[in-house]
Amino acid sequence: MVMSGLIPQHFIDDLLERVDIVDVIDSRVKLKKSGKNYSACCPFHDEKTPSFTVSPDKQFYYCFGCGASGNAIGFVIDYERLSFPEAVESLARLCGLDVPREAGERPAEDSERKKLYQLLARADQYYRLQLRRHTNRAEPVNYLKQRGLSGEIARDFAIGYAPPGWDNLLRELGGEAQAKRLLVTGGMLVERPEDNKCYDRFRHRIMFPIHDTRGRVIGFGGRVLGNDKPKYLNSPETPVFHKGRELYGLYQARQAYRQLPRLLVVEGYMDVVALAQFGIRYGVATLGTACGEEHLTRAFKCTTEVVFCFDGDSAGRSAARRALESALPTMEDGRQVKFLFLPEGEDPDTLVRQVGAEKFTRLIENAVPLEEFLFDAVAEGLDTQSMEGRARLSKLAAPLLDRLPKGVFRELMFNSLAGRTGLNTDTLLELVEPGADIAEQLQRGIGTPPPAPEGRQHSPADSAAGDKAAGSASMQGPLRRPARQRGERRLQLPAQKLASALLLQHPQLAREVGEPAVYLEADDEDLQLFGELTQLLLQRPNYTISRILGYWRATYGAAATEELARLAANQMLVSAAQLRHFDPKKEFNDSLARIAQQLESKHQQLLLEKVKTSAFNNLSSDDKRRMQELLTRRSKQAK
Ligand code: UTP
Ligand code: MN
Repeated sequence: MVMSGLIPQHFIDDLLERVDIVDVIDSRVKLKKSGKNYSACCPFHDEKTPSFTVSPDKQFYYCFGCGASGNAIGFVIDYERLSFPEAVESLARLCGLDVPREAGERPAEDSERKKLYQLLARADQYYRLQLRRHTNRAEPVNYLKQRGLSGEIARDFAIGYAPPGWDNLLRELGGEAQAKRLLVTGGMLVERPEDNKCYDRFRHRIMFPIHDTRGRVIGFGGRVLGNDKPKYLNSPETPVFHKGRELYGLYQARQAYRQLPRLLVVEGYMDVVALAQFGIRYGVATLGTACGEEHLTRAFKCTTEVVFCFDGDSAGRSAARRALESALPTMEDGRQVKFLFLPEGEDPDTLVRQVGAEKFTRLIENAVPLEEFLFDAVAEGLDTQSMEGRARLSKLAAPLLDRLPKGVFRELMFNSLAGRTGLNTDTLLELVEPGADIAEQLQRGIGTPPPAPEGRQHSPADSAAGDKAAGSASMQGPLRRPARQRGERRLQLPAQKLASALLLQHPQLAREVGEPAVYLEADDEDLQLFGELTQLLLQRPNYTISRILGYWRATYGAAATEELARLAANQMLVSAAQLRHFDPKKEFNDSLARIAQQLESKHQQLLLEKVKTSAFNNLSSDDKRRMQELLTRRSKQAK
């Protein structure tokens, strides 16, 4: 039994300083010197020629073949299949050290948020351990087996087990008042209002951790082992978990592919896991909510094709209509949305086990494109042969099409509607004046009302107001063009990732960064990560990659650390390939400049949106000043 209480960061640092990764690995996998580094056949995948490399300088290993990478602790965890505290204990024993424990508290520099992530990571670890160690483990293991899950897939999805009882997690992690309070905030403990006593939210359930795209655990879904109700229990909304945005399985999907072929949106945890077990690793699920616009925005950050999967019954079809509704505003050119309807009574889990991966993939590939589904759904119950039916079709479809963003696809859809109804496009556009009658649509269940007029981007009235305020319509052109640089594609990573990758390899570059706050506050996970790394390295300038990974593992857990290690390893490959010509400082500063430019243009875009949707006078004085500045700068440029 591993002692509870946090291992102090300084101890982890110290340990990494004392052990030599070469010894640690060599005692388990025979290493051969090759140049500055050591190499071996990779213990994490099957290979005949060695592509596994250990760098004594960086105290870091990586595999060119499978991408495995990490520090000494990470190696022991993966090789020996140990938990983080266990691996630290094992390495400490090797050095003759006792592992000290803190009474829950970490240094004051850690924000509450960070502590919350940390507690969730430890809860995740705890549940996984219970699946292997708890006296009752046979029951969940048998349940998973009976549902056809392989051990490998259970590991990939970090499936765990919350044992029966009211206070297992509470006792494991909630000893300190602060930890207890945070566990309540994080949804892991429930507080009884009568007496302020806490108890475990998840009891005797199979646990599915939910990761964000950075690999941090942000919440859980828990399934009963039998037929009790509720079948699934999900973490509530917390400061780090928002059901309206997160997709279960997105983290694993992104891990599985260099380039995601598509995302398949299914309903359940088990569906995602079963599909992955059959090699369809691009399944994601919403978390007991409908798939909304924010989910899609997130999905489209990772791929250009989203396929929705629904039951073939009437509930499935109306869910599909709601999904269609959410998808419309996100349909920028180059994106594709499709709908797959499964035979009644089947879900992806049962179907893929029945028909196999190949057939299932064919179903996905033959799914109904959005354009087809939209017109079918609208025309349902109408006689499109009659004049009257066609008129109604246009009246119902036009407001939907109007929710498409400007672009070729929108034009094509209006043309297609024109073709189907015999009305010309101009007439159709008249149907979508603000305030056009959409009550009818709603009655027919096509969806929820569109946002209020001031929130719409394309109504004529709004853009007229916007033009007046902004001075001229021609501004939109140059400002809206995404910032692209010459030579941007020389390195594989986009600037916001490259900056972090370089920082991991050359921590002293942190000094080149002015103020990390602007990154920490950016609406971009990559930039937030960069901000955090910078902040850490400014506080601890002597940290090398291996120590950063140690810190990360203790703070954010295994998956987040793997993500970080992979980023570092990726950059290692790139710089190794360019060896002589590679100037990290220059590349770093270049990437900072590109990020600054991106942030600036995003700022301008937001400002423009604001100006377009509200009168100039309603802007905050700060925004007005920025707008003025922008106009002056542009008029100077014009001269
Ligand atoms: P389903 O009831 O379709 O279950 O719920 P499933 O995914 O097929 O589960 P298995 O196969 O019986 O294990 C689909 C999704 O709806 C949410 C969960 O996210 C679930 O995966 N749900 C369902 C809940 O949040 N709570 C519930 O009680 C039931
Ligand atoms: Mn199911």
